[in-house]
Amino acid sequence: MILKINQRNYHLTDIAVRTACALLVIYCLLPWRFASHYKYLHGHEIRKELVEHVTSNISMQQYNSRVLHGDDILTGGEYFPNDCSSSFSTAIIVPYRKREEQLHAFLIYMHNYLRKQRIHYRIFLIEQYDQKPFNRAKLFNIGSIIAAEMEFPCLILHDVDLLPMNLGQIYACTQKPRHMCSALDIFRFTLPYRGLFGGVVAIRTQQYRFINGMSNLFEGWGGEDDDFYNRLCSHKIDICRFGPIYSKYTMIRHKPEEKNENRLELLRNGFKRFLTDGLNSLTYKEKERRIHSLFTHILVET
Ligand code: UDP
Ligand code: BGC
Ligand code: MN
Repeated sequence: MILKINQRNYHLTDIAVRTACALLVIYCLLPWRFASHYKYLHGHEIRKELVEHVTSNISMQQYNSRVLHGDDILTGGEYFPNDCSSSFSTAIIVPYRKREEQLHAFLIYMHNYLRKQRIHYRIFLIEQYDQKPFNRAKLFNIGSIIAAEMEFPCLILHDVDLLPMNLGQIYACTQKPRHMCSALDIFRFTLPYRGLFGGVVAIRTQQYRFINGMSNLFEGWGGEDDDFYNRLCSHKIDICRFGPIYSKYTMIRHKPEEKNENRLELLRNGFKRFLTDGLNSLTYKEKERRIHSLFTHILVET
């Protein structure tokens, strides 16, 4: 009996040692297979990659002519510094349904964080107001249209439960679309795979339009961000990231959502629909637009 247990233990140790050796060999020979080796912009390269563009949209004109006291957040969750002129105008688009606690934390944290960056921004909350499965990508498409109407040149597509941990992750667009949360705590601050392009992403409004936005067909959890990445690749648009120290985010913990069983199939044949499924096929109904003190609330039926 004792002999058998010893033999089994030896066998398991043997397998573990062999697996570790195999991984080490692959790691040394093919380091690019591991996403932790992803390419990123170094600190000194960031400045020249940023796209400076301030909108002359209506609320800016309206408020610029007034004297504002202090660094107030304007109704609708808009802000720009009044003691200097900002170089960037950013629409932060948050897809949302039934995450009240997270939303509360997000708004307080983000306004404090973003005001320190001295940029012009506005937070748009796009709430799915029906009982259908949640459609994150479609909500981003809707948000992009509303932000474009208000002349925002830069979109940041932002999960409500992700909070940036380093002020250096500037909420502005780079020439290339940027994956911003590449060092996420739930993934032990490493990137699980190189094509991950979800969570928090910055993209120029014109680039988002150029690739026809995101697919409207992903219902429930998963895959829509991978399809978005494939769209960029198919248009030969490269992405970028900042270094891990700038890209640290924390996720407010929550129960996992129900997975979309169709997602792999949709992803496999997504390339057939890049030109026909997206902004140009988007249908929705805007139920209401509420201008709250900390955000612009768009309620939609998808
Ligand atoms: N979301 C939401 N309500 C839902 C499902 C998703 O508001 O019922 C939004 C929310 O912004 C969330 C994002 O979609 O952060 C991504 O969903 P989730 O956090 O479940 O995905 P994860 O990235 O954690 O796998
Ligand atoms: C899903 C993505 C998700 C990623 C990280 C992938 O398997 O398709 O939608 O963002 O995992 O959780
Ligand atoms: Mn989440």
